[in-house]
Amino acid sequence: MRVVHTITELRQALAATRPAALVPTMGSLHEGHLALVKQARDHGGPVVASIFVNRLQFAPHEDFDRYPRTLERDCDLLKGVGCNLVFAPTESELYPEPQTYKVQPPGELADVLEGAFRPGFFTGVCTVVMKLFQCVQPRVAVFGKKDYQQLMVLRGMVRQFALPIEIVAVDTARADDGLALSSRNAYLSEPERAEAPQLAATLHAVQAAVLAAAKSGARIDAAALEAQAMGTLRSRGWAPDYVALRRRSDLQAPADPAAEPLVVLAAARLGKTRLIDNLEI
Ligand code: PAF
Repeated sequence: MRVVHTITELRQALAATRPAALVPTMGSLHEGHLALVKQARDHGGPVVASIFVNRLQFAPHEDFDRYPRTLERDCDLLKGVGCNLVFAPTESELYPEPQTYKVQPPGELADVLEGAFRPGFFTGVCTVVMKLFQCVQPRVAVFGKKDYQQLMVLRGMVRQFALPIEIVAVDTARADDGLALSSRNAYLSEPERAEAPQLAATLHAVQAAVLAAAKSGARIDAAALEAQAMGTLRSRGWAPDYVALRRRSDLQAPADPAAEPLVVLAAARLGKTRLIDNLEI
């Protein structure tokens, strides 16, 4: 496995190969990322993992500075799962001048849920992913469903810009107790880590209530279910930003929850750590 830090080296390394499968990451890798790489291996060409903590997607008060940077360990893990090439640019390599050209996703998808609490987040994500796509020119790019809204925003970007890239989605990797794997889990104290699976448990409770209502023909009261889930989290010491039952197709509130494929998404703070999770229903 080669590790390169510049766009020139990257392009040279890929010049004579088949088009790559790209796994974009911000490093601090865990089993969830490695599952993306394993999935990418099925696509024929070389597997490229990018490691870049993208300042553009962090608000000034967020954790850009303390985001864990563990390049050596990440490379060992990537080598172990058959990654062929790691692209780990410095900030000055990827952003040699202020990145004033940006990719702005549509508000109806990107200003809700995560976007409502993290203004500019998806512009930062789309801009760096577009740039990574230009650098690697992959045939396939693999993303986790844990960042469900991100996946939908990026699918829209690829579709509307007619990028010749297939977006592959991989199910969320979870710890045995149900906690969705995330680099930010490393911030949790021991008692917080013990409490953290309650986020997934709360989503399962919403899922169970929706399925039970659908089975009995009762009306699905999305607002009541969301409020109840937020209340449960608050009573356990969480500060939820949202628990939202949405249509899978466009992440809008469902007109008829019984008739449309749904997903329940949540973001909540436990102590200083903000966790997100979701469950398709
Ligand atoms: O999901 C992430 O880790 C990041 O948002 C991504 C896609 C690598 C862009 O920085």
